[in-house]
Amino acid sequence: MEKKILFPQIGGLIHGGDYNPEQWLDRPDILEEDLRLMKKAGINSASVGIFSWSVLEPKEREFHFEWLGKIIDRLYENGIYTVLATPSGARPAWLDKKYPEAMRVNRMGQREHHGGRHNHCMSSPVYREKVAVMDRKLAEAFGSHPGVIMYHISNEFSGECYCEHCIKRFRTYLAEKYDHDIEKLNRAWWTTFWSHRYNDFEQIEPPFIHGETSVMGLNLEWKRFTTWNTNDFMKAEAAVLHSVTPGIPVTANLMRMFGGLDYRKMAPDMDVVSWDNYPIFHNDWETLADTAYETAFQHALMRSLKRDVPFMMMESAPGLVNWQNVNKLKRPGIHRLACLQAVACGSDSVQYFQWRKGRGSYEQFHGAVVDHLGTDDTRVFKEVAEVGELLKKIAPVAGTLVRTKAAMLFDWDNRWAIEDMKALGRETKKYEETCIGIWKEFFRLGVDMDIVGSDEDLDRYDLVVAPMLYMLQPHTAANLRTFVERGGQLLATYLTGYVDSDQLCYLGGFPGDGLKDLFGIVSEEIDSLYPTDRNAIVLTDESLQKKAVSGESAGEKESCGDWEVVEYAEVLRVQDAQVLGTYGEDFYQGSAAITCKNHGKGNAWYVAARTDAPAMGPLFERMLADAGIPVRRLPAGVECHVRKGQEGRYEFYLNWTNDTAAISGVKGRDMVADREIEDVLELPAYGVAVVHSR
Ligand code: GLA
Ligand code: ZN
Repeated sequence: MEKKILFPQIGGLIHGGDYNPEQWLDRPDILEEDLRLMKKAGINSASVGIFSWSVLEPKEREFHFEWLGKIIDRLYENGIYTVLATPSGARPAWLDKKYPEAMRVNRMGQREHHGGRHNHCMSSPVYREKVAVMDRKLAEAFGSHPGVIMYHISNEFSGECYCEHCIKRFRTYLAEKYDHDIEKLNRAWWTTFWSHRYNDFEQIEPPFIHGETSVMGLNLEWKRFTTWNTNDFMKAEAAVLHSVTPGIPVTANLMRMFGGLDYRKMAPDMDVVSWDNYPIFHNDWETLADTAYETAFQHALMRSLKRDVPFMMMESAPGLVNWQNVNKLKRPGIHRLACLQAVACGSDSVQYFQWRKGRGSYEQFHGAVVDHLGTDDTRVFKEVAEVGELLKKIAPVAGTLVRTKAAMLFDWDNRWAIEDMKALGRETKKYEETCIGIWKEFFRLGVDMDIVGSDEDLDRYDLVVAPMLYMLQPHTAANLRTFVERGGQLLATYLTGYVDSDQLCYLGGFPGDGLKDLFGIVSEEIDSLYPTDRNAIVLTDESLQKKAVSGESAGEKESCGDWEVVEYAEVLRVQDAQVLGTYGEDFYQGSAAITCKNHGKGNAWYVAARTDAPAMGPLFERMLADAGIPVRRLPAGVECHVRKGQEGRYEFYLNWTNDTAAISGVKGRDMVADREIEDVLELPAYGVAVVHSR
């Protein structure tokens, strides 16, 4: 497999992070010391300028770039490449004072005051103009510098604005979407309900908190618009940068499964996907391995936004953070695991927030490679330097890719629709949690699933899981049908195919759009259970019963073959599917709860009730067997990912436990310990290995 090298200049993996020299311009000694320390820590990249606007343009049209030029030069002379940021994530005071329209209007319709960050109006023509001028000047000044390898646009896009400019753009967006025909919109939004019909696009307001919040179509379109508008802002920045220096890739740093923006719509407009990774390690509600596996899910989501190039971990905490409820220190060794996990999952970078702790303000106590102590002998510095060494050892993995035969469907639209639907249990919808739970269970069976949109090309997969796919996009049903026909194993669950992309319910039975024939069932009712209610699924299928012990994740507990049902249970009518399990209790006792229908060369599986993901392990195994995907169970708390490139495969093993682990069936050269593994890989507590084989 061909490699996709992001930065040939680097000749390996990126090791770097946010660097804020503008906070230290009166301390040239510290800026000089930074270079020495960076080299010592094996840093080869610095992300510069992210919040520098008030230093770059201290007064309107008075630009001071000399300091930045010196920094980029000095970094380059020392072998450190610059990821150059645009400063649009935070505005100088003069700008807000003179152009209040750059500040957002909140959901109550009030203009915000100057302050904070990440809070500009995405529509403001003045702000867009100011940003464009700044970006052009930056690109002209530094775009051809050999040290500049990438542009980092703004910072962690988020939020919405209810100002006049945004409302106007929202109306235009809607008019275009609904062909300038207000009746189309009225039908799509079902506005005759509660007498909410509009005569004109000009009557439409966004969902102000004290305004219209009861039209589901409006709520959803507002979210879609916010993504569209944010992306439009990002694209405008990218266009300026690309127009000056077309060869330099752009990225914007994303935030895991962030709910405010549909990242899948934004990914095509950035050259590389990057994200900021801050797991809550050592918390009091789950094991360290659980935290790690959820992080693996987040990496998989980011990786899948652009499946054919590596992604980047743009930020992570070298030590602790300062914004969690409890800002606990990362225990010794965890830093190395977390960094290697990112690379294992397909990142070509390990980057931090932040290089050096500032003396004051909001993030003065946020972890950094260099502490207020200022030395290179701290625990954190040493662990970072160790990672620097490690990344050099495994440099050949840069450009290789994670390839998997299984995928999970996850749509932001679907998430928003489920969140907003007035139905089910208020506290128990848990779409994201359900996806993560199922993903982790497959992961425990050795399957590192991609996470893709329901309309995306599924050709490369043999198994697809689509939890709670309440909203079907226009092509999803056909996409899934084709997938099963050509031999795919498809799993859907309760709450599949209730509404179309306008959130109008399908008539004639759920799952709609022809999916009821694909699955051979109709879902007639859905029951929501109180926390103390219970039901169970009695397995009628022998193969599921025999295997009903789910490895490590079920603990030592032997299952009686029944799956406990919590929170949701759909009552099905079976058309022509095979029944593999039935409800154990209540008025729907004995009716179908798990079904399977052959279609073409594949199978469409349906689980009608919510159960614990580990309980479904045996079903997953059976699907994997039918899909021809091997199951591989590793010792509890040990994680494996595989990256492939033209010179072979790289198996990453990460031990998130305090015990040594022995993993058999491993052959190749461990690049970390520099030794040959013949069959059994011994991993010490919290140990890591990267095993290369041809
Ligand atoms: C985010 C931001 C950074 C910094 C870190 C702190 O990821 O992008 O600027 O505030 O959080 O964890
Ligand atoms: Zn606005």
